[in-house]
Amino acid sequence: MKGLILCGGKGTRLYPITYTIPKQLIPIGNKPLIVYTLELLIDSGIDEIGILVNEDNKLVFERGLSKYFDKDFKYIIQYNPRGIAHGLTFCEEFINGERFVVVLGDNSFRFNLKDFVHEFKNSKLNSKILLKEVDNPERYGVAYIGNNKIINLKEKPKIAFSNWAITGLYAFDNTIFKACKEIKASKRGEYEITDAIKWMLDNGYNVGYQILEGKWRDVGRAEDVIEENIDVLSSIDEYIKGEIVSSNVSGKIILEEGAAIYNSTVRGPIVVGENSIIKNSYIGPYTSIGRGVNIDRSNIENYIILDYCNILGVGGPIDNSIIGEGSIIAMEKGIKKINRLIVGKGSKIYLPSK
Ligand code: DAU
Repeated sequence: MKGLILCGGKGTRLYPITYTIPKQLIPIGNKPLIVYTLELLIDSGIDEIGILVNEDNKLVFERGLSKYFDKDFKYIIQYNPRGIAHGLTFCEEFINGERFVVVLGDNSFRFNLKDFVHEFKNSKLNSKILLKEVDNPERYGVAYIGNNKIINLKEKPKIAFSNWAITGLYAFDNTIFKACKEIKASKRGEYEITDAIKWMLDNGYNVGYQILEGKWRDVGRAEDVIEENIDVLSSIDEYIKGEIVSSNVSGKIILEEGAAIYNSTVRGPIVVGENSIIKNSYIGPYTSIGRGVNIDRSNIENYIILDYCNILGVGGPIDNSIIGEGSIIAMEKGIKKINRLIVGKGSKIYLPSK
């Protein structure tokens, strides 16, 4: 069976991070979010995988994924993105009449996909969706179920008619392409996948569902990225290839080649990428540190620090933060109060009020 991962769109809710990196490539435990989904698909026996990307993102994905897999993926370009259903229409040729699975590239799943795929393959369903009960259904597509059947579907309703969120994992046959071409744009100007599935339902096609027994997160906002990082770091397998000198380390840590911890206190779980140096600092749990990062005289916890950052003299603890690639956060000698910020477009800085 074929699989598709959708990574078009703009990721505006994650600006400024997504100005320079697509949200599906944001590192979680130092590994791009999409890598976990690719591993899930491959482990479930899905052998041909297409990745839908924007015109200007293909190379970024190719480079970002090359070190994780020795197999090739088919990159499909969505020109002028106008919604998930719009994106799917670009994939029809790649799917070539087969039954297939679609995963939204900014969703994370931990569940038995193999069984889901197997059951769909051997069923007469035209589509199968995966539902999860949530407290805030208005943020998602929502399904209304009666007598074990889907009765209605609505994208981000103002007032939801149930708590069943439609997660970003779907199975389809070829009918979905017809549906995507038949529907009209929604009020927010997008061709919604939920409307396409509703079209199938309204036109007599067979749409089934499964309740998700397992974990799911829509990693659409900064707080979701931090929570996903916590989940991933909670189950790391420790290994230490770098050097630890005169430091107090507890909990699980991953310390990559060339990385070093000097004269510091570290509470795992944390991940430290290649050639990163931590000196005279406290690093608290659930912190992911990328490659070539330099941390000195700082106190941080619950951070995601992308490659080549300098964190110098940052007292704290400052926590729950995402620091974009190549950023510098430094306390300089002689500065008595915060009087200088060099801040890029769309940055978010939260300061305490007095
Ligand atoms: O996370 C589950 C939810 O995902 C569902 O409950 C909703 O029914 C579904 O519409 C979707 O809602 P979002 O508003 O969260 O979708 P978002 O715009 O964040 O896009 C989700 C993924 O699809 C993301 O990886 C980018 C990709 N995408 C998005 C658009 C708008 C495309 O490939 N092309 C697009 O044009």
